[in-house]
Amino acid sequence: MNVVVGITGGIAAYKAVSVVRALVLAGHEVNVVATPNALKFVGRPTLEAISHRPVHSDLYEGVTEVRHVFIGQAADLIVVAPATANTIAKLAAGLADDLLGNTILASTAPLVIAPAMHTEMWENPATQANIAALRERGVVIVGPDSGQLTGADVGPGRMAEPEAIVAAALRAVAERSDLVGKRILVTAGGTREPIDPVRFIGNRSSGKQGLAIAKAAAARGAEVTLIAANLEVAVPASLTVVRVSSTEELAAATTEAAPEADAIIMAAAVADYRPEKVSAAKIKKDDAESLTLRLVRTPDILSSLSERRTAGQVVIGFAAETEPDDAKRLELGRTKIARKGCDYLVLNRVGATEGFATDRNTVVVINAAGDIVSEASGTKQSVADKILDLLLTPWSDS
Ligand code: PMT
Repeated sequence: MNVVVGITGGIAAYKAVSVVRALVLAGHEVNVVATPNALKFVGRPTLEAISHRPVHSDLYEGVTEVRHVFIGQAADLIVVAPATANTIAKLAAGLADDLLGNTILASTAPLVIAPAMHTEMWENPATQANIAALRERGVVIVGPDSGQLTGADVGPGRMAEPEAIVAAALRAVAERSDLVGKRILVTAGGTREPIDPVRFIGNRSSGKQGLAIAKAAAARGAEVTLIAANLEVAVPASLTVVRVSSTEELAAATTEAAPEADAIIMAAAVADYRPEKVSAAKIKKDDAESLTLRLVRTPDILSSLSERRTAGQVVIGFAAETEPDDAKRLELGRTKIARKGCDYLVLNRVGATEGFATDRNTVVVINAAGDIVSEASGTKQSVADKILDLLLTPWSDS
């Protein structure tokens, strides 16, 4: 799991080192985002040595990779320990005047904070109102404990112990397991239609978007089957994968797996046409100036899956469109969902530099009536989670 540990400027920052260490030892990838004040309490080299990664602190570093939002978008969990009264106030107000604030605002991951401050500051009505606002938004608050504070004073305000913070954080992720018990079939990648033993007609899909959906669904507890067509990205060993190449193979694999699935998500870029004849030997060019290939239609897999869907099964298709005008693209989507008969259609604009093969995507999701039901823009992982959220509504009563 990709965990962001946010450290803010309080004396308890030294205990954050143990939080980072426990998460690393538990096998998680930990990215530390420390405020400049936190680094006055605990050294960057300590945090980098313990996390095995660079510590991020400056909002204006890594601008070309849009780091101020990327770290948050990629996070599966954010833990802020210690969280000062100032940081808590900023989080409650949604302020983003430093890297940590931006990271948190850009994330949909569970947020766990461990307040640490003097008793008077903790009990101040302003802090209590901020804590209540954060709780209402689903933020998990761990502690503070009561005990010896930095000075001679004793009372509530001590940061919770690192083990308690880590345990609460991991529990928060487990509780997000909203797809437990669901079987989800995801297709990813691009099909290849053979011309002869060495050539094919293909497309530019890398499989990143489909794989992100499969990984996100698995992280949320679903049992996932990934039908992978010529992926350019590595698939984690924990996923059940069926490797295919052509549309015919993808059709056979999805048709076989579909009846068992609670949801089918067709993110693969599937060929609409294939060569009518596949030459058994490499086609020679000889002296010919031109070559004509006759193409025939492939089966429309999404349409037939929609037609045969079982009771309660949700079918989600994608639409890859190059149309630059948003309104016209939406109309193309409405026509497409009417033709494909699926429950939802995820519309994304594709082109030489967008949609295909990049790490980010921008999508608009429509339902069968053609209404926009969701929109997402960000990493393919964050888009994946937004798409999976669509499944929660139809299943909320079941
Ligand atoms: O893989 P990446 O590099 O990350 O890129 C992601 C993506 C752009 C490929 C992905 O987000 C996407 O848009 N996938 C669908 C691509 C596509 O085939 O779109 P389409 O508009 O041509 O097809 C519409 C839907 O019908 C798709 O769900 C497709 O899987 C399905 N289809 C298409 C043809 C066919 N013969 N059978 C089908 O089932």
